[in-house]
Amino acid sequence: MKTPKPLSYSKLDGISEKQLSEHHDVLYVGYVKKVGEIEEKMKTVDLSGANATYSDLRALKIEETFALNGVKLHEGYFDNMKEGGSAPSGKILDLINRDFGSIEAWTSEFKALGLAARGWVVLMCDLDEKKLKNIICDAHNQGGIWNSVALLIMDVYEHAYFVDYATARKSYIEAFFKNINWDESNRLIEKYGIGN
Ligand SMILES: [Fe+2]
Repeated sequence: MKTPKPLSYSKLDGISEKQLSEHHDVLYVGYVKKVGEIEEKMKTVDLSGANATYSDLRALKIEETFALNGVKLHEGYFDNMKEGGSAPSGKILDLINRDFGSIEAWTSEFKALGLAARGWVVLMCDLDEKKLKNIICDAHNQGGIWNSVALLIMDVYEHAYFVDYATARKSYIEAFFKNINWDESNRLIEKYGIGN
């Protein structure tokens, strides 16, 4: 069974320990537990009752996409931040310049999408098109694109910032940008052989 991945920091610039612990220790850990629970129930689910209107099998598999994507998106989000952040450099900067024209153009689009999304903003590489794109998702299991790698993930659910910023999402987005760990994006580019 999957175990929760610990945070590698306790606070960030503009994102408090309390905010992070509620988000990581309660919400993220909750998704990990639910993935385990669903995997257990799949071992004994009644396959003969399969039905597209309602069946235990359907409910388990639909909610598995919500819980498992919740785990993956949160792990990516927590991993692509570090206290103080870093300047974009190396391959991620080259690819952003290639596909968005400039880091400034990418930044403007990504920040605006942070106000347009109800759940997530993701800078991803489409492995079929071999191109970077920003996408938005309103729920963990909505809006993702198949065969792509998430290179930078921003959580814009209210639970990600309400403790620190109440409804001021714009201020939270600015704080997120101060803490971006671009080394993690470059690690993923290396891992998946992107841009080779
Ligand atoms: Fe979240």
